[in-house]
Amino acid sequence: MGFLADSLSRIKPSATIAATNKARELKAAGRDVIGLGAGEPDFDTPDNIKEAAIKAIRDGLTKYTAVDGIPELKQAIIAKFKRENGLDYKPSQVSVGTGGKQVLYNALLATINPGDEVIIPAPYWVSYPDIVMLGGGEPVFVGTTIETGFKVTAAALERAITPKTKWFIFNSPSNPSGAAYTHAEIKALTDVLVRHPHVWILTDDMYEHLVYDDFTFATPAQVEPALYERTLTMNGVSKAYCMTGWRIGYGAGPEKLIKAMATLQSQSTSNPSSISQYAAVEALNGPQDFIPRNNAVFKQRRDLIVSMLNQARGLTCPTPEGAFYVYPSCAGTIGRTAPSGKVIGSDEDFVTELLEAEGVAVVQGSAFGLAPHFRISYATATDQLEEAGRRIQRFCGNLR
Ligand SMILES: Cc1ncc(COP(=O)(O)O)c(C=O)c1O
Repeated sequence: MGFLADSLSRIKPSATIAATNKARELKAAGRDVIGLGAGEPDFDTPDNIKEAAIKAIRDGLTKYTAVDGIPELKQAIIAKFKRENGLDYKPSQVSVGTGGKQVLYNALLATINPGDEVIIPAPYWVSYPDIVMLGGGEPVFVGTTIETGFKVTAAALERAITPKTKWFIFNSPSNPSGAAYTHAEIKALTDVLVRHPHVWILTDDMYEHLVYDDFTFATPAQVEPALYERTLTMNGVSKAYCMTGWRIGYGAGPEKLIKAMATLQSQSTSNPSSISQYAAVEALNGPQDFIPRNNAVFKQRRDLIVSMLNQARGLTCPTPEGAFYVYPSCAGTIGRTAPSGKVIGSDEDFVTELLEAEGVAVVQGSAFGLAPHFRISYATATDQLEEAGRRIQRFCGNLR
């Protein structure tokens, strides 16, 4: 109160960033910590992408650019949507931001009025509700369960829609559950949305390329063309292209929305880094063959950690279709006593005691809106992941 804006009291620092920082601090203090909190690939950015950035610097492409993206990058994004999703866009329908997060932020802040409702399936990526609340909107959570693979049903979506609903935020493959919706599962949801023309769809396709076992990715505007006029399809290079630090994300949708987003961006960050934009052109237009190579490693790690978690006493972990997260339930550990003498009363206690006893850092499910669970990011070296799995098993086995 007083000096700080009231709007700030509605939001909190990102729980995943907090968990990553805590692991980093403990490591710096000399503790043997395995961090499974961070949502980023451990793989390096491919060399051809790095070279494109170096060339941009050498060529002097280091000045301000158009606020919402250089024409070359917009063209690469248009080609990507056509090639991979069968979606047609014009440059005026494309917006490039400093990470997918800014695109999402711009879209929500450019459209939300106080009291507007935004439907968010839970568990959700931590930033959705906070951005909605910063804008004065109200997140409306639609719960899912481990039994339904953490997927929202058509009936639950329908029930959540009110005259005040502005957006439905859809994220497949999902952070934190890794759940990915099939074409048919998306169709069930888009059938509902078609009947409610005042609801816009914000689809976060950030993990599009990270799917396993021959899963076929689909996105709402492709599944139901009738929704094209009210869908913002968001994506980015952070995850699949191992470019989290470069900060490039993008979205495509109706021109009036894209224009409003550019106005907002013009009064905050202006253009995303010119150098990163040239790197992203190479990412989207260049060779894509490293993606299946990385995915083969991710899949192996997913299978390893799922199997190890299911052998830990009190844990249950389904096998997700995509992303690089698993979201086990720790319901079977609640009420047991940790080596410190503390009784585990919640997933937050589980996570704290696991870090204390075994030096394994994960993120509590309550931060993502579905407890008692925790999130593991398996985008970490396989030997470290295996060691973490052993420690989790030991921790669970030692609970009294
Ligand atoms: C579901 C989801 N959407 C968006 C983002 C943001 O990506 P970026 O790093 O490009 O801002 C993330 C990153 O963790 C994410 O998990």
